[in-house]
Amino acid sequence: MSAAGPPQGARPPRGERRQAPLRGGHKGAATVPVIAVDGPAASGKGTVAAGVAQALGFHLLDSGSLYRLVAHKALAEKVDPDDGPALAAMAEALDVDFRDGRIARDGRDVTNAIRSEAVSAAASRVAVHPAVRAALLARQRAFRRRPGLVADGRDMGTVVFPDAFLKVFVTATPEERARRRHKQLIEKGISITMESLLRDIRERDARDVSRASAPLRAAADAVILDTTDMTIAAAVDSVLGLYRARAAETGGKESN
Ligand code: CDP
Repeated sequence: MSAAGPPQGARPPRGERRQAPLRGGHKGAATVPVIAVDGPAASGKGTVAAGVAQALGFHLLDSGSLYRLVAHKALAEKVDPDDGPALAAMAEALDVDFRDGRIARDGRDVTNAIRSEAVSAAASRVAVHPAVRAALLARQRAFRRRPGLVADGRDMGTVVFPDAFLKVFVTATPEERARRRHKQLIEKGISITMESLLRDIRERDARDVSRASAPLRAAADAVILDTTDMTIAAAVDSVLGLYRARAAETGGKESN
């Protein structure tokens, strides 16, 4: 169940808007616990989020994949990454299907294609437009389903799920992040230098942190997890420990 989310198209279910503000005994979306895992590029947050979702049997939202999908379509259709209104229209109408760990756009499997460095760079440009972010908001909130959701991104704790039950901000030094991304790409048979990766990561960090709309930052109530000297397994355990401690504190009222 962990990699599931809404079965098709990731459209918000009817009534989601009306349900969202409900609290307590209501069966609205807000009673479903969310673990927000935010952080910079290649910090390991995606792997940590997937591990936590798997351990808890929660749904998983990889919000970056939505920005990557818009960027991938924009590159394919030669839409200028600075044309906010055109990109927002594209984001709004995005035909996407998340199924069994694969991602299809317009009926085509693009799981690997959206991970290229060209799409990574374009995604961070696409993501600066407030209209694009607004267009993707309901789609992201629609992933909030029982029994719970682990959401990974840049603004999960600050904008998309400000009432998340637990917020974790995963960091690592730029050098360590470049090293991790390098290892990942080499394993996939993609050859690239550490220098160019480090440069790309620094450029993306700068763009993510400095943009006006939903900049990358830890929510005031987030726990900072520096994974520079940590294994993935240790990072997953650490988030699970935080979740369980908080659940024990709140006596099982895990919504917020
Ligand atoms: O895996 P990595 O951290 O490199 O990237 P990602 O999480 O797939 O996100 C790709 C790009 O989308 C990032 O560089 C951000 O600019 C943007 N993004 C965002 O603005 N907000 C999110 N919630 C998630 C991603």
